[in-house]
Amino acid sequence: MKATLLSSIFIASALAAPTINWTPALGEFYSAVDAHIREARQNGANGAVYPQSCDLSKAQLPSAPTALPAPDPSWYLSSVVVGRGVQNYTCSSASPNIKPVALGAVATLYNVSCLASNYPNILEMLPGLALQYPLPPDGGANLQPSNLLLEGHHYFDAAGVPTFELNSGPNKLGVGKFKKTANSTAPATAIKGEMGLGNGAVAWLLLSATTGTDGNLAGVYRVNTAGGNPPDNCQSSPAVFSVQYATEYWFYSKKP
Ligand SMILES: *[C@@H]1O[C@H](CO)[C@@H](O)[C@H](O)[C@H]1NC(C)=O
Ligand SMILES: *[C@@H]1O[C@H](CO)[C@@H](O)[C@H](O)[C@H]1NC(C)=O
Ligand SMILES: *[C@@H]1O[C@H](CO)[C@@H](O)[C@H](O)[C@H]1NC(C)=O
Repeated sequence: MKATLLSSIFIASALAAPTINWTPALGEFYSAVDAHIREARQNGANGAVYPQSCDLSKAQLPSAPTALPAPDPSWYLSSVVVGRGVQNYTCSSASPNIKPVALGAVATLYNVSCLASNYPNILEMLPGLALQYPLPPDGGANLQPSNLLLEGHHYFDAAGVPTFELNSGPNKLGVGKFKKTANSTAPATAIKGEMGLGNGAVAWLLLSATTGTDGNLAGVYRVNTAGGNPPDNCQSSPAVFSVQYATEYWFYSKKP
Protein backbone atom coordinates (compact mmCIF):
# COMPACT_ATOMS: atom_id res chain seq x y z
CA MET A 1 0.00 0.00 0.00
CA LYS A 2 2.72 2.46 0.99
CA ALA A 3 4.74 1.87 -2.15
CA THR A 4 1.62 2.45 -4.27
CA LEU A 5 0.96 5.64 -2.35
CA LEU A 6 4.50 6.84 -2.89
CA SER A 7 4.30 6.26 -6.61
CA SER A 8 0.98 8.04 -6.93
CA ILE A 9 2.23 11.07 -4.95
CA PHE A 10 5.16 11.32 -7.29
CA ILE A 11 3.25 10.77 -10.47
CA ALA A 12 0.68 13.37 -9.37
CA SER A 13 3.36 15.96 -8.61
CA ALA A 14 5.17 15.24 -11.88
CA LEU A 15 1.94 15.72 -13.84
CA ALA A 16 1.06 18.91 -11.96
CA ALA A 17 4.47 20.45 -12.60
CA PRO A 18 5.92 19.39 -15.94
CA THR A 19 8.46 22.24 -15.67
CA ILE A 20 9.53 21.86 -12.09
CA ASN A 21 10.70 24.87 -10.13
CA TRP A 22 13.56 23.50 -8.12
CA THR A 23 13.23 25.00 -4.66
CA PRO A 24 14.35 24.04 -1.16
CA ALA A 25 10.67 23.30 -0.48
CA LEU A 26 10.76 20.65 -3.16
CA GLY A 27 13.88 19.25 -1.51
CA GLU A 28 11.99 18.98 1.74
CA PHE A 29 9.23 17.25 -0.14
CA TYR A 30 11.76 14.77 -1.40
CA SER A 31 13.08 14.29 2.13
CA ALA A 32 9.57 13.44 3.21
CA VAL A 33 9.27 10.89 0.43
CA ASP A 34 12.62 9.49 1.49
CA ALA A 35 11.32 9.14 5.03
CA HIS A 36 8.34 7.21 3.64
CA ILE A 37 10.71 4.94 1.79
CA ARG A 38 12.61 4.19 4.98
CA GLU A 39 9.33 3.51 6.74
CA ALA A 40 8.14 1.24 3.93
CA ARG A 41 11.46 -0.56 4.07
CA GLN A 42 11.02 -1.21 7.78
CA ASN A 43 7.37 -2.16 7.60
CA GLY A 44 7.51 -4.11 4.39
CA ALA A 45 6.09 -2.39 1.33
CA ASN A 46 2.71 -3.82 0.26
CA GLY A 47 2.90 -6.18 3.20
CA ALA A 48 5.83 -7.98 1.60
CA VAL A 49 9.26 -8.06 3.19
CA TYR A 50 11.22 -5.16 1.73
CA PRO A 51 14.37 -6.50 0.06
CA GLN A 52 17.37 -6.25 2.36
CA SER A 53 19.75 -5.92 -0.54
CA CYS A 54 17.99 -4.46 -3.53
CA ASP A 55 17.58 -6.62 -6.59
CA LEU A 56 19.33 -4.73 -9.38
CA SER A 57 18.30 -7.35 -11.94
CA LYS A 58 14.85 -5.64 -11.86
CA ALA A 59 16.27 -2.18 -12.63
CA GLN A 60 15.76 -0.78 -16.14
CA LEU A 61 18.46 1.39 -17.68
CA PRO A 62 16.80 4.61 -18.97
CA SER A 63 16.86 4.84 -22.79
CA ALA A 64 18.74 7.71 -24.39
CA PRO A 65 17.25 9.97 -27.12
CA THR A 66 19.85 8.46 -29.49
CA ALA A 67 20.04 4.82 -28.39
CA LEU A 68 23.28 3.87 -26.65
CA PRO A 69 24.54 0.29 -27.21
CA ALA A 70 22.86 -2.21 -24.84
CA PRO A 71 24.97 -3.60 -21.99
CA ASP A 72 27.21 -6.44 -23.18
CA PRO A 73 25.69 -9.88 -22.41
CA SER A 74 28.80 -10.71 -20.35
CA TRP A 75 28.00 -7.81 -17.96
CA TYR A 76 25.60 -7.49 -15.02
CA LEU A 77 24.35 -4.33 -13.31
CA SER A 78 26.43 -4.02 -10.12
CA SER A 79 25.59 -0.52 -8.86
CA VAL A 80 23.62 2.66 -9.56
CA VAL A 81 24.82 5.95 -8.09
CA VAL A 82 23.95 9.64 -8.24
CA GLY A 83 27.02 11.71 -9.07
CA ARG A 84 27.22 15.36 -7.92
CA GLY A 85 30.14 17.60 -8.82
CA VAL A 86 31.59 19.77 -11.57
CA GLN A 87 32.61 19.49 -15.21
CA ASN A 88 35.75 21.55 -15.94
CA TYR A 89 36.55 23.41 -19.15
CA THR A 90 39.33 25.55 -20.60
CA CYS A 91 39.22 28.55 -22.92
CA SER A 92 42.41 29.47 -24.74
CA SER A 93 41.21 33.09 -25.06
CA ALA A 94 38.06 35.08 -24.22
CA SER A 95 36.84 35.01 -27.82
CA PRO A 96 33.36 34.44 -29.29
CA ASN A 97 35.05 32.32 -32.00
CA ILE A 98 36.51 29.80 -29.57
CA LYS A 99 34.55 27.00 -27.93
CA PRO A 100 35.28 25.74 -24.41
CA VAL A 101 37.22 22.45 -24.35
CA ALA A 102 36.40 19.75 -21.77
CA LEU A 103 39.21 19.35 -19.25
CA GLY A 104 37.79 16.77 -16.84
CA ALA A 105 35.35 16.34 -14.00
CA VAL A 106 35.23 15.66 -10.33
CA ALA A 107 32.17 14.28 -8.53
CA THR A 108 31.10 12.41 -5.44
CA LEU A 109 29.06 9.24 -5.95
CA TYR A 110 26.08 8.15 -3.80
CA ASN A 111 24.42 4.74 -3.64
CA VAL A 112 20.91 4.77 -5.16
CA SER A 113 20.74 1.08 -6.14
CA CYS A 114 17.61 0.52 -4.02
CA LEU A 115 15.83 3.43 -5.73
CA ALA A 116 16.87 2.09 -9.15
CA SER A 117 15.33 -1.29 -8.43
CA ASN A 118 12.25 -0.13 -6.48
CA TYR A 119 11.44 3.55 -7.16
CA PRO A 120 12.71 4.48 -10.65
CA ASN A 121 10.37 7.51 -10.83
CA ILE A 122 11.98 9.00 -7.74
CA LEU A 123 15.46 8.20 -9.01
CA GLU A 124 14.77 10.01 -12.28
CA MET A 125 14.11 13.25 -10.35
CA LEU A 126 17.16 12.94 -8.16
CA PRO A 127 19.95 14.43 -10.35
CA GLY A 128 17.81 17.56 -10.94
CA LEU A 129 17.19 17.84 -7.20
CA ALA A 130 20.79 17.12 -6.21
CA LEU A 131 21.94 19.96 -8.49
CA GLN A 132 19.99 22.48 -6.38
CA TYR A 133 21.92 21.68 -3.24
CA PRO A 134 25.46 22.88 -2.47
CA LEU A 135 28.34 20.72 -3.65
CA PRO A 136 29.07 18.09 -1.03
CA PRO A 137 32.21 18.73 1.00
CA ASP A 138 35.24 16.70 -0.13
CA GLY A 139 35.63 13.36 1.50
CA GLY A 140 33.30 11.23 3.47
CA ALA A 141 29.89 12.87 3.96
CA ASN A 142 26.56 11.49 2.77
CA LEU A 143 24.47 13.61 0.38
CA GLN A 144 21.88 15.86 2.00
CA PRO A 145 19.02 16.50 2.31
CA SER A 146 18.15 12.85 1.86
CA ASN A 147 21.22 11.23 3.42
CA LEU A 148 22.23 9.16 0.37
CA LEU A 149 25.16 6.92 1.26
CA LEU A 150 28.62 7.73 -0.04
CA GLU A 151 29.82 5.06 -2.47
CA GLY A 152 32.90 6.59 -4.12
CA HIS A 153 34.46 9.29 -6.27
CA HIS A 154 34.81 10.23 -9.91
CA TYR A 155 37.85 12.15 -11.15
CA PHE A 156 40.31 12.33 -14.03
CA ASP A 157 43.72 10.84 -13.21
CA ALA A 158 47.09 12.53 -13.91
CA ALA A 159 47.00 11.15 -17.48
CA GLY A 160 43.49 12.61 -18.03
CA VAL A 161 41.72 9.23 -17.90
CA PRO A 162 38.16 9.23 -16.48
CA THR A 163 38.37 7.22 -13.26
CA PHE A 164 35.69 5.87 -10.92
CA GLU A 165 36.61 4.69 -7.41
CA LEU A 166 33.78 2.67 -5.86
CA ASN A 167 35.32 1.60 -2.58
CA SER A 168 33.47 3.71 0.02
CA GLY A 169 30.33 1.53 0.34
CA PRO A 170 29.81 -1.89 1.93
CA ASN A 171 30.35 -3.61 -1.44
CA LYS A 172 33.75 -2.52 -2.78
CA LEU A 173 33.64 -2.63 -6.57
CA GLY A 174 37.18 -1.40 -7.19
CA VAL A 175 38.68 1.41 -9.26
CA GLY A 176 37.88 1.64 -12.96
CA LYS A 177 39.69 3.47 -15.77
CA PHE A 178 37.30 4.22 -18.64
CA LYS A 179 37.04 5.55 -22.16
CA LYS A 180 34.01 6.99 -23.92
CA THR A 181 32.47 4.56 -26.41
CA ALA A 182 29.11 6.17 -27.30
CA ASN A 183 27.08 9.31 -26.61
CA SER A 184 23.63 10.87 -27.01
CA THR A 185 22.44 14.41 -26.42
CA ALA A 186 20.35 14.69 -23.25
CA PRO A 187 16.55 14.91 -23.71
CA ALA A 188 15.19 18.43 -24.35
CA THR A 189 13.40 18.23 -20.98
CA ALA A 190 16.65 17.75 -19.00
CA ILE A 191 17.38 20.25 -16.21
CA LYS A 192 19.73 22.86 -17.75
CA GLY A 193 21.51 23.95 -14.57
CA GLU A 194 21.07 25.31 -11.07
CA MET A 195 17.57 26.74 -10.49
CA GLY A 196 16.74 25.56 -14.02
CA LEU A 197 19.15 28.13 -15.55
CA GLY A 198 22.30 27.16 -17.39
CA ASN A 199 23.71 25.94 -20.67
CA GLY A 200 22.10 22.53 -20.66
CA ALA A 201 22.67 19.00 -19.51
CA VAL A 202 25.83 17.11 -20.50
CA ALA A 203 25.50 14.25 -22.98
CA TRP A 204 24.42 10.76 -21.94
CA LEU A 205 27.35 8.37 -22.36
CA LEU A 206 28.55 4.79 -22.41
CA LEU A 207 32.12 4.34 -21.19
CA SER A 208 34.01 1.04 -21.27
CA ALA A 209 36.70 -0.14 -18.88
CA THR A 210 40.30 -0.05 -20.09
CA THR A 211 43.64 -1.27 -18.77
CA GLY A 212 44.37 -0.24 -15.23
CA THR A 213 40.89 -1.26 -14.01
CA ASP A 214 40.92 -3.39 -10.90
CA GLY A 215 37.91 -5.42 -9.72
CA ASN A 216 35.40 -6.51 -12.37
CA LEU A 217 34.10 -3.13 -13.53
CA ALA A 218 33.34 -3.35 -17.26
CA GLY A 219 31.14 -0.42 -18.31
CA VAL A 220 29.28 2.62 -17.04
CA TYR A 221 26.37 4.61 -18.47
CA ARG A 222 25.89 8.29 -17.64
CA VAL A 223 22.13 8.99 -17.91
CA ASN A 224 19.50 11.47 -16.65
CA THR A 225 22.11 14.23 -16.61
CA ALA A 226 21.38 17.71 -15.16
CA GLY A 227 23.56 20.76 -15.92
CA GLY A 228 27.29 20.58 -16.69
CA ASN A 229 27.38 22.10 -20.19
CA PRO A 230 29.65 25.12 -20.79
CA PRO A 231 28.57 28.29 -22.61
CA ASP A 232 28.55 27.91 -26.38
CA ASN A 233 31.68 30.08 -26.77
CA CYS A 234 34.52 31.56 -24.72
CA GLN A 235 33.55 35.25 -24.98
CA SER A 236 32.77 35.66 -21.26
CA SER A 237 34.78 32.78 -19.83
CA PRO A 238 38.01 32.65 -17.83
CA ALA A 239 40.86 30.35 -18.93
CA VAL A 240 39.68 27.51 -16.65
CA PHE A 241 36.21 27.17 -15.15
CA SER A 242 33.84 24.65 -13.59
CA VAL A 243 30.14 24.03 -14.33
CA GLN A 244 28.05 22.20 -11.75
CA TYR A 245 26.33 18.96 -12.74
CA ALA A 246 24.55 15.95 -11.36
CA THR A 247 23.73 12.64 -13.01
CA GLU A 248 23.08 8.93 -12.60
CA TYR A 249 25.89 6.47 -13.30
CA TRP A 250 24.90 2.83 -13.95
CA PHE A 251 27.87 0.50 -13.37
CA TYR A 252 28.19 -2.91 -14.96
CA SER A 253 30.69 -5.58 -13.91
CA LYS A 254 31.87 -8.72 -15.70
CA LYS A 255 29.84 -11.81 -14.79
CA PRO A 256 31.92 -14.24 -12.74
C1 LIG B 1 38.04 20.65 -11.64
O1 LIG B 1 37.90 21.85 -10.93
C2 LIG B 1 37.83 21.66 -9.52
C3 LIG B 1 37.60 23.01 -8.89
O2 LIG B 1 36.37 23.51 -9.29
C4 LIG B 1 39.13 21.05 -9.02
O3 LIG B 1 39.01 20.77 -7.66
C5 LIG B 1 39.39 19.76 -9.78
O4 LIG B 1 40.66 19.26 -9.41
C6 LIG B 1 39.36 19.99 -11.27
N1 LIG B 1 39.52 18.67 -11.90
C7 LIG B 1 39.92 18.51 -13.18
C8 LIG B 1 40.08 17.13 -13.66
O5 LIG B 1 40.13 19.46 -13.90
C1 LIG C 1 24.18 0.02 -1.94
O1 LIG C 1 23.21 -0.06 -0.92
C2 LIG C 1 22.58 -1.34 -0.84
C3 LIG C 1 21.49 -1.25 0.23
O2 LIG C 1 21.99 -0.73 1.42
C4 LIG C 1 23.62 -2.39 -0.52
O3 LIG C 1 23.00 -3.68 -0.48
C5 LIG C 1 24.71 -2.38 -1.59
O4 LIG C 1 25.74 -3.30 -1.27
C6 LIG C 1 25.30 -0.98 -1.73
N1 LIG C 1 26.20 -0.97 -2.88
C7 LIG C 1 27.52 -0.84 -2.77
C8 LIG C 1 28.27 -0.88 -4.08
O5 LIG C 1 28.09 -0.72 -1.72
C1 LIG D 1 29.48 12.68 -29.39
O1 LIG D 1 30.79 12.32 -29.77
C2 LIG D 1 31.21 12.88 -31.01
C3 LIG D 1 32.54 12.28 -31.34
O2 LIG D 1 33.45 12.44 -30.29
C4 LIG D 1 31.26 14.40 -30.86
O3 LIG D 1 31.63 14.99 -32.09
C5 LIG D 1 29.86 14.90 -30.46
O4 LIG D 1 29.93 16.29 -30.22
C6 LIG D 1 29.40 14.19 -29.21
N1 LIG D 1 28.02 14.56 -28.93
C7 LIG D 1 27.64 14.93 -27.74
C8 LIG D 1 26.19 15.24 -27.59
O5 LIG D 1 28.40 14.98 -26.79
